Amino acid sequence: MDDNVKFFYGENVPLEMHKVRIVQRLNLLPIEKRFDAINEAGYNTFLLKNRDVYLDMLTDSGVNAMSDNQQAAMMQADDSYAGSETFTRLENKIQELFGKKYFLPMHQGRACENILSQNYVFQDSVIPMNYHFTTTKAHITINGGIVEELFLDEALVAKSENPFKGNMDIKKLRDLIEEKGADKIPFVRMEAGANLIGGQPFSLQNLEEVRKVCDDFGLKLVLDASLLQDNLYFIKNREEKCKNMSIKEITKAISDLSDIIYFSARKLGCARGGGMCMNDEEAYMQMREYVPLYEGFLTYGGMSVREMEAIVVGLDETMDEGIIEQGPKFIKYMTEELEKKGVPVVTPPGGLGCHLNAIEFVDHIPQSKYPAGALASALYLVSGVRGMERGTLSEERDKDGNDTLAHMELLRLALPRRVFTLSQIKYAVDRIAWLYENRKLIGGLKFVDEPRVLRFFFGRLKPITDWPDELYQKFKEDFGDSL
Ligand code: F0G
Repeated sequence: MDDNVKFFYGENVPLEMHKVRIVQRLNLLPIEKRFDAINEAGYNTFLLKNRDVYLDMLTDSGVNAMSDNQQAAMMQADDSYAGSETFTRLENKIQELFGKKYFLPMHQGRACENILSQNYVFQDSVIPMNYHFTTTKAHITINGGIVEELFLDEALVAKSENPFKGNMDIKKLRDLIEEKGADKIPFVRMEAGANLIGGQPFSLQNLEEVRKVCDDFGLKLVLDASLLQDNLYFIKNREEKCKNMSIKEITKAISDLSDIIYFSARKLGCARGGGMCMNDEEAYMQMREYVPLYEGFLTYGGMSVREMEAIVVGLDETMDEGIIEQGPKFIKYMTEELEKKGVPVVTPPGGLGCHLNAIEFVDHIPQSKYPAGALASALYLVSGVRGMERGTLSEERDKDGNDTLAHMELLRLALPRRVFTLSQIKYAVDRIAWLYENRKLIGGLKFVDEPRVLRFFFGRLKPITDWPDELYQKFKEDFGDSL
């Protein structure tokens, strides 16, 4: 997949169009200590302490590097409970970029999902979407709703040439509405940069087609814009009819097609917070009631005013292609370097991070023994790199208590924007390649302590054999005392 990227050096070395002015000391523990750390963390990378991690590729959420202009804006925040100037600036920015009249502030993305679901989802409501996200699905199902994923068949093909694997299958959407009846469907949800299938974008064309179906059946279209930044970049660079549009124009076109937009500003806007915007007064008035109840007063919604100032600037910076290309460029580099070494990765490279295809990487581990979770633990052990399991562990059990086997078993290595250097990426690539050569040493995991909801956050597991010891021994043979 050849993106029309500007700032490259030589064949494929991405150039950083920023310089680093604040840094944080990192630790690279010896493997003995990493062995203890992963055991203490119950083989769950969420439970590792950051001081034991060398490269934290768990997520991009709330950990993107901020710009000097964001930090400067934070100093000017207007701290007041009600009617803060900062809120007005954020509301105006949302109106300017998305063209939506009403804005409801919320403390992060899942807070939006909570309020949206409480307002619209009832017992047996059906919510069609291009792909689910963990917290989205949890909020919909807790309110009695059913998630229907209408992805393209190709969405689940790890190695693909399709530039828009995040598209919704329009025929499936029509068929589902006809089968269930439009009155059962409170809204159709499209997720930008479909997270769980490898940060894969939808095209503007596809969103237009989804809109058309919504219009035919009188349905609302809700956009989860948390990963919009990368999706905008991909539309501009991969969709022929959009290549002469500015990022701002593409944003406006997407927004005009959507009735309600919500986002995690831990991703979009490169700060910490979230919110929802719409033109529909009724939707606004209904959901407004929940904000003081769950979030905070209507002019901060659980966010610090400093973060709100940072979002205003961050959203503006999201409109600059020279800024937002950094993430996809680094992800592309990492993915292609791994591919050269034969490591199974998700292609085309998406947004958010580089995704290892665990089902192929450790094809000797059945899904019931959590291959992507095992790979996450193994990678931490041999490198100090922390990734996130995006597979069966991240699913909920069904009503009968059986594991729901995920469509894909991925190890996501998130690249928070402007955080890592190219030599750090190269280190990760080298260790992943070593692990791939020694993959047969990796074994499965089983739960020892399993929470009922969103179990991947706090669940504790253990290896089903003593495979971590064998991996440790092999590492020592090959690397001696080096880290
Ligand atoms: N929607 C999408 C597409 C997301 O990726 C996330 C968060 C949320 C909603 C929820 O937002 O975290 O602010 O409550 N994704 C993070 C991740 C957690 O690591 O991918 P939140």
